[in-house]
Amino acid sequence: MLNVHKIWLFSCLCVVVVVVLYFQTEIARLEDKFYKLEYKLAQTQSEPRQFFPKTVEKDDDDLVIIYNRVPKTGSTSFVGVAYDLCKKNHFKVLHINITANMHVMSLSNQYKFAQNVTKWHEMKPALYHGHLAFLNFERLGVSSNPIFINLIRKPLDRLVSYYYFLRNGDNFRPHLVRKKHGDKMTFDECVEKEQADCDPNNMWLQVPFFCGHSAQCWKPGSHWALQQAKRNLVNHYFLVGVTEEMLDFITVLETALPRFFKGATDHYLNSNKSHLRQTSSKLEPSQVTIERIQQSNVWKIENELYEFALEHFKFVKKRLLSKESNGVAQIYFYEKIRPK
Ligand SMILES: *[C@@H]1O[C@H](CO)[C@@H](O)[C@H](O)[C@H]1NC(C)=O
Ligand SMILES: *[C@@H]1O[C@H](CO)[C@@H](O)[C@H](O)[C@H]1NC(C)=O
Ligand SMILES: *[C@@H]1O[C@H](CO)[C@@H](O)[C@H](O)[C@H]1NC(C)=O
Repeated sequence: MLNVHKIWLFSCLCVVVVVVLYFQTEIARLEDKFYKLEYKLAQTQSEPRQFFPKTVEKDDDDLVIIYNRVPKTGSTSFVGVAYDLCKKNHFKVLHINITANMHVMSLSNQYKFAQNVTKWHEMKPALYHGHLAFLNFERLGVSSNPIFINLIRKPLDRLVSYYYFLRNGDNFRPHLVRKKHGDKMTFDECVEKEQADCDPNNMWLQVPFFCGHSAQCWKPGSHWALQQAKRNLVNHYFLVGVTEEMLDFITVLETALPRFFKGATDHYLNSNKSHLRQTSSKLEPSQVTIERIQQSNVWKIENELYEFALEHFKFVKKRLLSKESNGVAQIYFYEKIRPK
C-alpha cells in the first residue's frame, strides 16, 4: 500500500519536473527568438536608433563672426544686408574703427580686442566688421574663437575701382570729397606715366589681409605670405566668397548660418534699396594696361590667391547648394551608439 503511494507520488513529481523543464526551454526559446527579432528590428528600423543632430540655439547665441573686409571688394553692400537683417534676426552688428584705417593692430590692442570680443556677452551674437588683417585668436589666449568670413575680388578690378573711388567717390556718399578729387587722369594714363597711384604694389592688399599680422605678410610679392594666406583661408575662415558672385556668397551664408542670415537672399534680391555701392565714372582699363599690370609679380601672386579662393568657394557652394541625384539635400545622423 505504502509502495503504491510512493510510486504515485514519484510519477507526479516526474510529471511536474517534465512540465517545468518543458516550459523553461520554451521560455528560453521564445526569449531567444525575441532578442533576435529585436536585434533585426534595431538594424532595419532606423527611427529610435538614429539621432539627428540639432542646432543648439544656445551655441548659436554665443557666436561671434568677424568680417575683416578688404576695401573695394563690395563689402559695403554685404554689410548693408547685415545691418538690415540684424534687428529681425536678433544679432548685433559692430564696426571696428581703427585709427587712421590701419590694417594691423598693435600687440596690446590685439590682446584687448580678442578678450573683449570673446567675453562681451551682452553683444552676442554679433558680427564685427572692419578693415583689419586676419587675426589668429589662438595666439591670444582666448577660450572661444570667432568665425571669420570675407570676400575677395579680382586684384586688377579692385585696384581700378580704388583708383577711381579716390577721384570720383561713389553713390554711397556722393557728396564726400575724396582724397584725389578733381584729378582727371585715367587709370590708363596713370599706368602709362608710371605714377604711384597705379603702381602694381598697390595691389598687395588681399594677400596681406588673409595672411595676417606678421611682418612678412606686408612685403609685396612675398611667396611665404601667399602660402600663409592660402592656409588661413582654408583653416581659419568659415567662408570666403568672391565679389563677382555676391549673391551666391549670401545664399551659402543663409543656408549654413540661418541664425544670422535667414532671409538674406530674399532681402538682397528684393530690397528696393540698392545694395550695390558703385564707384562713380569708372573707366575700364585698356588691353595694353591690363597686359602691363599682369606682367607684375604682385599681380601674379595676388591673382593666384584669388583663383585659389574662387576654386574653394565653388567647391563649397557645390557641396552645399546642389542636391544629390535623387533631389534630396545632404543630411547626416548618428547610429550604432554603444553601450546601450
Ligand atoms: C572712425 O572714427 C573717426 C573718428 O571718430 C571718424 O572720423 C571716421 O569717419 C570713422 N571711420 C569710419 C569709416 O566711419
Ligand atoms: C568691450 O569694450 C566695450 C567698449 O570699450 C566696453 O563697453 C565693454 O564693457 C567691453 N566688454 C568687456 C566684456 O570687456
Ligand atoms: C521701399 O520699401 C519700403 C517697405 O518695403 C517702403 O516703405 C518704401 O516706401 C519703399 N521705398 C521706395 C523708394 O520705394
